[in-house]
Amino acid sequence: MHKFGYKNKKLYCEDLKLETLVKKYGTPLYVYSENTISGHYESLKRAFSDLDTSICFAVKANANLSILKLITNIRGGFDVVSQGELRRVIAAYGDPGKCVFAGVAKSAEEIEFALEKDIYCFNVESEAELLRIDKVAAKMKKKAPVAVRVNPDVEAKTHAKVTTGTYKNKFGVAFDDVMKIYTRGQKLKNVYWRGVQMHIGSQLTSVKPFEQAVRKVAPLAQKLKQKYKIEFFSIGGGMGIVYDPALESGKPEWWKTPAAEKTITPEKYAEAVVPHLKPLGLKILLEPGRFIAGNAGVLISRVEYVKRTAKKNFVIVDAGMNDLMRPALYDSYHEIVPLTKKSGKLLPSDVVGPVCESADTFSVDRPLPSVSEGEYVAFMSAGAYGMTMASNYNTRPYPAEVLVKDDFHHLIRPRQMPARMWESENVARWLKYVRK
Ligand code: LLP
Repeated sequence: MHKFGYKNKKLYCEDLKLETLVKKYGTPLYVYSENTISGHYESLKRAFSDLDTSICFAVKANANLSILKLITNIRGGFDVVSQGELRRVIAAYGDPGKCVFAGVAKSAEEIEFALEKDIYCFNVESEAELLRIDKVAAKMKKKAPVAVRVNPDVEAKTHAKVTTGTYKNKFGVAFDDVMKIYTRGQKLKNVYWRGVQMHIGSQLTSVKPFEQAVRKVAPLAQKLKQKYKIEFFSIGGGMGIVYDPALESGKPEWWKTPAAEKTITPEKYAEAVVPHLKPLGLKILLEPGRFIAGNAGVLISRVEYVKRTAKKNFVIVDAGMNDLMRPALYDSYHEIVPLTKKSGKLLPSDVVGPVCESADTFSVDRPLPSVSEGEYVAFMSAGAYGMTMASNYNTRPYPAEVLVKDDFHHLIRPRQMPARMWESENVARWLKYVRK
């Protein structure tokens, strides 16, 4: 469903040749496809059109102001997890009234800011947090809209580091304790129950865990509607995307992967959960991040050197783990393709970055076309949790970002200037004057 592909052997984003952007802006370079993002948003909206649905884009997946403004333009809301993210939404002309605020550690300052901006709802992750929200709201003479994030204790069957809905995880309120906290909240003067929420994990590639969790929480939502007149049930984000399409079309024999990758479609997802949700008559919130933005972005990098050793073919590129952290952190797979399509033999290749860590590795012995110094490669499906997780490690500047629509483009974030990386630092006064 994404809009990246080869035309006359050149890789395009929509109707724009990626080589053109690389020549203009250099590398490493993130490129996003606007029509892919809006297409994903619309397909999800369509699949759930039987319900009164609101889509709250998870800002943590891609927080560039242009992406947030695009979501605003297509009438989306937002899932935020910090004051910073809420400020970004506001800077992108987003409506705080369409924002839900998640996160286990909301500070009093963050709560105050969000209340001042009249967000749609706080998704509360503990009783202590509920009491804190009540206290801050009392000080501001306001009534805060709240929902409990339920931890349904369902295995999401995804990577352990992105599983959130079991009792081993820090998130939410245990399913069995949820009613207690609603009763408690009812007695507080400065909060009112607006909904109930859950989010069981990210990159789910089967609908089963979703269905299991919705089926478990729906009767609770029904009870809460009767007792406390809640108006929404948020079923969170988590829809997985395909990172390795080649798995579907077959790989050379020597390339062994654990399992063929398949994922959920919006239709399959809706088919599994809508029957449990419809009878509730509640507004349903979805909080997708990766599904909207993941396959809508690529990271382009230049090959600096090719180093052949007795054991390995290292392709050394100018993007590092600081630019795209997922492979280093989760051993995630990102498809790697050259900007100019190649024919000929595939070579087992380790694509590695410039950072001084062995974890700075994007592929191990992966069959790739042979590339040489000065050529460009694209890391596919880097539109979600790519730039938002980037860092200045090794004092490497943040890459540039470009948004493409049809055959035009805009530089939505210039490459960071080196001096910007230390501009807010100071040398301690006693270090300044060294006695010789
Ligand atoms: N709602 C809540 C409360 C969340 O915590 C998350 C993601 C989402 C929605 C959006 O989930 P999505 O639809 O994108 O799966 N850095 C990891 C992913 C961490 C996800 C954290 N929470 C990665 O790169 O795979």
